[in-house]
Amino acid sequence: MNITLNVNGQNKQVAVPSLDMPLLWVLRDIMGLTGTKYGCGIEVCGACTVIIDNQREHACVFNVGSAVGKKITTIEGLSAPGTQSHPVQKAWIDNQVPQCGYCQPGMIMACEAARRAGHHGTEILSELKHLCVCGTYQRIREAVKTL
Ligand code: FES
Ligand code: FES
Repeated sequence: MNITLNVNGQNKQVAVPSLDMPLLWVLRDIMGLTGTKYGCGIEVCGACTVIIDNQREHACVFNVGSAVGKKITTIEGLSAPGTQSHPVQKAWIDNQVPQCGYCQPGMIMACEAARRAGHHGTEILSELKHLCVCGTYQRIREAVKTL
């Protein structure tokens, strides 16, 4: 069936096999937005984090049907392509946070959701429960303290 999703400020028509399909697979496999990652699929790791109507959500368990009519923001929508000019992205670059990078889009999107809720610095840290198998937590802490 065809549905319209508002992703990164643009309405897009997408054909999905079912409204129960997790948003993660629609973003990655149908829309080609592969910045949002798959890790656990059970709301543990945070790799799939996107922002929906200013709320942090796990796209691995968020049905695409529930996203219709809402504003979805993915890592690709934080700043203009190639600029990485968003404050969270700049903090990440300044502190050389990523190692392999796989978990980082989810970390950044969770930080941005916290900022949209009016939180800063260590307030954000207390909300970041994501997993990073490379162990970049110390650099994440340094970056988040500047936000
Ligand atoms: S893939 Fe969604 S929380 Fe891990
Ligand atoms: S940077 Fe490799 S999993 Fe976090």
